[in-house]
Amino acid sequence: MNNQAWLQRSLDSVWHPCTQMKQHPALPLVPVARAEGVWLEDFEGKRILDGISSWWVNLFGHGNPTINAAITDQLSRLEHVMLAGFTHAPAIELAERLSAKTGGALGHAFFASDGASAIEIALKMSFHTWQNAGQSDKREFVCLQGSYHGETLGALSVTDIPLFSEAYAPLIRNEHVHLAPSPDARLAQPGESAIDVANRAADALEQLLNERDGKVAALIIEPLVQCATGMAMHDPHYLKRARALCNQYGVHLICDEIAVGFARTGSFFAHEQAGIRPDLLCLSKGITGGYLPLSVVLCTDAIYQAFWHNETRRGFLHSHSYTGNPLACRAALATLDIFDTHDVLGANRRLSAHITQRLRAIALHPRIRNFRHRGMIWAADVDTDLADFNRRFFAQALQRGLLMRPIGNTIYLMPPYVLTTTEADWMADQALAALNATLAEAPAEHA
Ligand SMILES: Cc1ncc(COP(=O)(O)O)c(C=O)c1O
Repeated sequence: MNNQAWLQRSLDSVWHPCTQMKQHPALPLVPVARAEGVWLEDFEGKRILDGISSWWVNLFGHGNPTINAAITDQLSRLEHVMLAGFTHAPAIELAERLSAKTGGALGHAFFASDGASAIEIALKMSFHTWQNAGQSDKREFVCLQGSYHGETLGALSVTDIPLFSEAYAPLIRNEHVHLAPSPDARLAQPGESAIDVANRAADALEQLLNERDGKVAALIIEPLVQCATGMAMHDPHYLKRARALCNQYGVHLICDEIAVGFARTGSFFAHEQAGIRPDLLCLSKGITGGYLPLSVVLCTDAIYQAFWHNETRRGFLHSHSYTGNPLACRAALATLDIFDTHDVLGANRRLSAHITQRLRAIALHPRIRNFRHRGMIWAADVDTDLADFNRRFFAQALQRGLLMRPIGNTIYLMPPYVLTTTEADWMADQALAALNATLAEAPAEHA
């Protein structure tokens, strides 16, 4: 069967995520037959470079032999067993190894399936910790302007992207949620540095925590890069200040590293760049190398101990059927094996420098603003009035065999770490060509 036949069957039966389905006849839907390394391939043999790691999940390429072998081996032993009342080696080993990656600061791992479910867990865990500790007034949360923590109702309550939450406003309970200013470095006034912006945002956070003293359970942050709002990047100094303020006001710090963990920002965990540890750490996406749905919330011993009690209801009674699935945990262990046996951070540093250099033509483009970069993420804002710029750019890039999905007017690249320099060069050339072609379709009036 060819692309068109699969495409039609998909439109007839699959409700695609994050999509106004009516736009699909105009917007190409891409049927993927197979994938290897950084390349996706359709049913007619056309290859597409996965410039956004399949929604930020893929680290070491599609069809990675190490991860394939681990899953195949696990398949022959145990595909799944419930984790309530039972346990298995992959979940135990993964919990131990992830804890070790935090230097033992976060001693227990609570597993779930997707990023949003990890956020639900972290919010409930923080709230319930304070309830169990007799501090029942601590039931408020603080999130940042432009935050994104997932699409379930609880996660949407700490998400500040109206496009995703507006339609469900009557269902979302966010009267207990406060928005703190984003430390987004693009907000720098003339003469201000990223650290100045971070300090300004942290001062406002301090004022908020002071006003709500004794009421706030947790501050939730996407460390270093607020991805879904348009790759807003901030200085690590903000995290340092946020950690100190959380200590001062007795507030949990939840780091949502669902998108930025696993070396995406240049350190294994993003928060390491600030020399801090959170109280709760949410991980997903890259955790399985992009293979299987898995998420985890790591917590401090203090939080774990707050639930240790004779009374059942003081326990954390949350669950999902596929929690800690053995196949997913083995994929995650294989992913950690790759980190342990290769100098991934060093290789990424070299590749990242190369890619930044190759993206210079985009960085210096007259219609580009705020070219920015951290680790293996690059982003830039395009000066255009085109309301459907993102869809047009997506189509132009796709025509050239490159998968990029701009967020509004922000174009970004977040490729798998196994990209070669030759592939990186090709990617940079196609991104520039797609940018010029999109802008040529309908140039902005002031261009
Ligand atoms: C920072 C962050 N948190 C949470 C989520 C939600 O994860 P999931 O889509 O797996 O539910 C995402 C997804 O993009 C994310 O970027």
